[in-house]
Amino acid sequence: MIRPHVVAVPSAAQRLRGEDRVEDLSLRAKDAAAMSAVASGLPVPAFTKDDLDRPVPSGGVYWGVAHKPTMVVGVTARRSVAVDVEFIRERKDYQIAGALTAAEHAILGGNSLEAYFLAWVAKEAVLKQKGVGLQHLSRTAIIDAWSDGALVAYDTQVCEVGYAFFNQHVAAITAPSREVVWTFVAEEDDLEVMSPAQRVQALHGDAGSAS
Ligand SMILES: CC(C)(COP(=O)(O)OP(=O)(O)OC[C@H]1O[C@@H](n2cnc3c(N)ncnc32)[C@H](O)[C@@H]1OP(=O)(O)O)[C@@H](O)C(=O)NCCC(=O)NCCS
Repeated sequence: MIRPHVVAVPSAAQRLRGEDRVEDLSLRAKDAAAMSAVASGLPVPAFTKDDLDRPVPSGGVYWGVAHKPTMVVGVTARRSVAVDVEFIRERKDYQIAGALTAAEHAILGGNSLEAYFLAWVAKEAVLKQKGVGLQHLSRTAIIDAWSDGALVAYDTQVCEVGYAFFNQHVAAITAPSREVVWTFVAEEDDLEVMSPAQRVQALHGDAGSAS
């Protein structure tokens, strides 16, 4: 089984801004991926990335992260895997229409806002697993969907994605739901939020640094 961990960002950390916030969220997501490794009995990977910012596996251990200001997700597995997470929030009709075809909406069903975010996280997870960015979004399409998963076409390749919902967020992983056990960690608000430097030290020890 693959064991992604979804971790709520404490409200004190949500008040960080600029580079501090980006670094804090990135480290929180790697903490979540480390929890996934421990839960799976895998060594915690080194969290190195290539020159295009893509996660690099270490010792046959793959990892993936995603972070939003209110929620992070991390996963570690013996095979290539990627995740995404989004806060389900208001979107304008033109944004929904621009990102979701009528055929995709019909496949995903439900209300258009939920369909929009389901399509978004599924496609972004697939693009990350393929090691390409959002510039390839138009090469993806939702071709089938059910309650906890979807099939995403990327050019001629078809990828199965699993979904889960947590506190008004939706997360996706590039693996069938039957192979996935999600863990949600609703963190208590930290009264004192560690700085990014303190989190690096806590995660890697004095000599370590996360890339
Ligand atoms: C990859 C991409 C889809 C991520 O989307 P996002 O909403 O910014 O970020 P997410 O929280 O979902 O994921 C971030 C993680 O994806 C990973 N990542 C970054 N670039 C990646 C890529 N090209 N392929 C796979 N994974 C990637 C990293 O681990 C990153 O987290 P970290 O920097 O904390 O380690 C997006 O940044 C993208 O399209 N990048 C391609 C390059 C590009 O177009 N850059 C210009 C952006 S304006």
